[in-house]
Amino acid sequence: MWWTGYAARGSGDGMELNELLYTGKSKQIFATEDPARVLVRFTDEATAFNARKRAKVADKGRINCAISARLFEEVGRAGVRHHLVRQLSPTDLLCERVEIVPVEVVVRSVVAGSFARRYGLTEGTRLPRPVVEWFYKSDALDDPLIGDDALLALGFAEPWELAFMTQAALTTHRALEQLWDRLGVDLIDAKYEFGRQEGRLLLADELTPDGSRLWEQGSGRPLDKDVFRKDLADLSETYRQLHARLLGGPQAAGGA
Ligand code: TYD
Repeated sequence: MWWTGYAARGSGDGMELNELLYTGKSKQIFATEDPARVLVRFTDEATAFNARKRAKVADKGRINCAISARLFEEVGRAGVRHHLVRQLSPTDLLCERVEIVPVEVVVRSVVAGSFARRYGLTEGTRLPRPVVEWFYKSDALDDPLIGDDALLALGFAEPWELAFMTQAALTTHRALEQLWDRLGVDLIDAKYEFGRQEGRLLLADELTPDGSRLWEQGSGRPLDKDVFRKDLADLSETYRQLHARLLGGPQAAGGA
């Protein structure tokens, strides 16, 4: 495979791993020899409702790693600076080490989820223009919605960062919407995270169906984590299908 040349520690092939810096809901972050970079490992864990529902999903780590790598490449082409350096193995990405901004940006093209509930709207209604919302990253508080003013007053981001993240999230969303549209999939909404590195902001975290809604055009069938949240179908199979659309064929996820 194209990554067989990777001989650094922590490739996941039984070699000694560097220090585990952080364990998330479906990712682990390891230190690397380079203090400015980390290894992001995608696991097979699926969680929903702030991890009150969890399961192991076959191949999810490989699939989300491959999807994320491909989508970061796409948004990079659209001019968005991001944290991905390169893919190291089927489950591992080498990324710039950043300090994550404690707010998430959600961009919505079509009404769904909490937006539908909050405003009493019908799911599936296309919005006249993309809507940007902010959520405060706090598991203890279940990631509450936060307004611009509160976000700035509480020091979660600087004014220039808010403006930068708004524009970068919209550019990212537009690029991904166009890519998915070419593949017969509607990008309904998505969550983006940014990180600080030496005074600049990079698009960070992951670009996967765990953090976005993707509906098959025509049928409206969800191809994202709602399948797991609502027990609609087999998540592993759904993610495999999405992966095949994006990267062509089931083999690409496994690296076989
Ligand atoms: P949203 O509709 O606000 O929440 P829910 O998924 O509970 O209905 O979510 C909008 C999109 O952003 C959706 O694709 C899921 C994603 N998202 C996350 O991945 N994590 C989060 O913490 C939030 C708030 C949203």
